[in-house]
Amino acid sequence: MNRHRDLLQRDAKHVWHPFTQASIAPEPLPVVRAKGSWLELADGRRLLDAISSWWTCNHGHSHPDIVAAISHQAATLDHVLLAGCTHPPVVELSERLVSIAPKGLEKVFYSDDGSTAIEVALKLAFKYWANTGRPEKKHFVALAHAYHGDTVGAMSAGDHGAFGGSYASLLFPVERIHHGYNNSCTGCVEASQRPGLGLAKLREIFEARSGEIAAMIMEPMVQGAGGMLIQEPEFLRGVRELCDAHDVLLIADEVMTGFGRTGKMFACEHAEISPDILCVSKAITGGTLPLSATLVREKLWNAFLGQDKARAFLHGHSYTGNPIACAAAVANLNIFASEPVFKRIEAIEAVYEERLPALLEYDAVSEVRWLGTIGAVELKSDVKGYMSNKAASLASKFLEHGYLMRPLGPVLYTMPPYSTKSEELHALYDVFEKLLSQ
Ligand SMILES: Cc1ncc(COP(=O)(O)O)c(C=O)c1O
Repeated sequence: MNRHRDLLQRDAKHVWHPFTQASIAPEPLPVVRAKGSWLELADGRRLLDAISSWWTCNHGHSHPDIVAAISHQAATLDHVLLAGCTHPPVVELSERLVSIAPKGLEKVFYSDDGSTAIEVALKLAFKYWANTGRPEKKHFVALAHAYHGDTVGAMSAGDHGAFGGSYASLLFPVERIHHGYNNSCTGCVEASQRPGLGLAKLREIFEARSGEIAAMIMEPMVQGAGGMLIQEPEFLRGVRELCDAHDVLLIADEVMTGFGRTGKMFACEHAEISPDILCVSKAITGGTLPLSATLVREKLWNAFLGQDKARAFLHGHSYTGNPIACAAAVANLNIFASEPVFKRIEAIEAVYEERLPALLEYDAVSEVRWLGTIGAVELKSDVKGYMSNKAASLASKFLEHGYLMRPLGPVLYTMPPYSTKSEELHALYDVFEKLLSQ
């Protein structure tokens, strides 16, 4: 039996794939190698990883500097618990993260993935108010179309419609505002007025009950899984101002947007704001190992100090601050200094500027939008949101042409590794036009 078939048969026996209805899903792709922007399958086919393997792989697969850092660290200190111990990679990474993060974020708590970074943020915000004598500030405000992960707290903050619907009774309630982007009514709401819509609602909520609200949580500038919905920086700035005025913490979920994705190191920079809590993951290790970090302001850290153990943040995971993952993350940050990373990001955005508006000429397309390395094409669909199958058949045709895409309902997007060359991305959009014209 060939290697390709063998892998698929053994996989089918025991592997439960994420976000997959196994009864109807096509067979998984047996991937055996990756280099730069390309994946290699067991049967020798090559695919361009146009979505950076769920938005993790920023510089390109198996970057030699990250591979070397992992290998060196694994041979030096593989793992040690972070409670009561420390080690060079975690200290260096913490210094480096604080030095590049929006200003004011001074302390770093580590966990393993985006969802757990969000759980940490929610629990820290909740306990911050309890520790400072205001336990009634325990509720959260979030955005419509939000996605913050699949653990129970993260699902509560996320829009239940998309992924959390079946678990609604398990989740805690949150107030939800729309950022003003109106997908069903593009054109009826002027872009310049959109931020105002969400902000007016947020002001209303804060004026009525900010005394009960711990934090506002949001994906700044781009809501990823919700369909690559792009905000105006004024919206983010307005949220920051309202949080300040009403004594509400701002949690920025930069799990997807961090480390260059939107054209800045962090999306908050577009609005020149600093959150009180920042969550990062995905590209933090260049897409090699699971790691996440929740950065907080000094005032949060201070609120957990004291002689009473119960004031402390009694939370952690077996692999919190794993040395190998931290070393990979330091290597990832070094690449921003040693290679022209932001030039590569600009080159990707330039392809979007050139190619995406042209797609509006096709009947099937309702909207295009882009920011940094994120380019999204929304197809006309009767079913709104993630459950729409509109883009799925297009994605499977892309696969035949050698491109790995994964639609979000009616939205087909590209978010390639920064190593992707302009010609490679142009070739992908040539295929896009060909498929749309069929
Ligand atoms: C903005 C955002 N937050 C949190 C998460 C959850 O991250 P993870 O899948 O690593 O748990 C994701 C994942 O896509 C995300 O896009």
